Amino acid sequence: MKILILDDEAAAIAKAAEILENQISQKPASVLGLATGGTMVPLYDCLRKSHAKGDVSFASVVTFNLDEYVGLAPEHAGSYHTYMRVALFDHIDIDVSNVHLPVGNAADPVAESARFEALISASGGIDLQLLGLGQNGHIGFNEPTSSLSSPTRVKTLTQSTRDANRQYFDETEDVPRYAITMGIGTILRSKACLMLATGPNKAKAVAKMVEGPVMASCPASVLQMHAKVTVVLDQAASKDLQLTDYYHHVHPRGAGSEFD
Ligand code: PGA
Repeated sequence: MKILILDDEAAAIAKAAEILENQISQKPASVLGLATGGTMVPLYDCLRKSHAKGDVSFASVVTFNLDEYVGLAPEHAGSYHTYMRVALFDHIDIDVSNVHLPVGNAADPVAESARFEALISASGGIDLQLLGLGQNGHIGFNEPTSSLSSPTRVKTLTQSTRDANRQYFDETEDVPRYAITMGIGTILRSKACLMLATGPNKAKAVAKMVEGPVMASCPASVLQMHAKVTVVLDQAASKDLQLTDYYHHVHPRGAGSEFD
């Protein structure tokens, strides 16, 4: 794993944006795996600004989002379809026919999961998968004890995940109990992963992911088995790591090393 520790959240966001933009400039028709959540809002903001300045074009980019809530129509205010439109897609030059999210209100969520997994394979696979980190170590909606080789499927959300996401729903509404999520096997098949975690409430999960044992009770720890993972952190999210001196030595302030 390549561990990049930046001074603060803004620097971490800028670094993650730089990695994504480099990927697109090297391969304009990149297949990107995208993530949602509060952490990604400033990242998408940064990408929008780069696009407005003419620094990056998404015209040929293909995207697959990690997950969507079961039962929510794409137009629902709390859906990840809506999140992605508002945060990014409505502001860039992406071809909407190249945008893919699981359809939350599909008549058969199990069949929808299989369709989504097949579509990723048919696209040639994901070149770079962006990931956020749950406080319980989840990636996508792969909650603790998820199979480490799982495909896209329906998962039951933990109460802590539902509580964390309560803020995105109207008071009168229940947070959905289920989600369609890319599996851990799906994520591991991507050619490269970019994990972005910021803030002190991610520090424990970051330490388990990077320096703990590989175990299903911390799904993100499986990234230790992937050959090409970059972890971008701010100081706050890195504070429970043991080997920070080494990470700073290899990549001072997130800089590239001679052999990158
Ligand atoms: P957050 O979510 O960015 O809202 O903290 C991350 C996640 O749960 O994957």
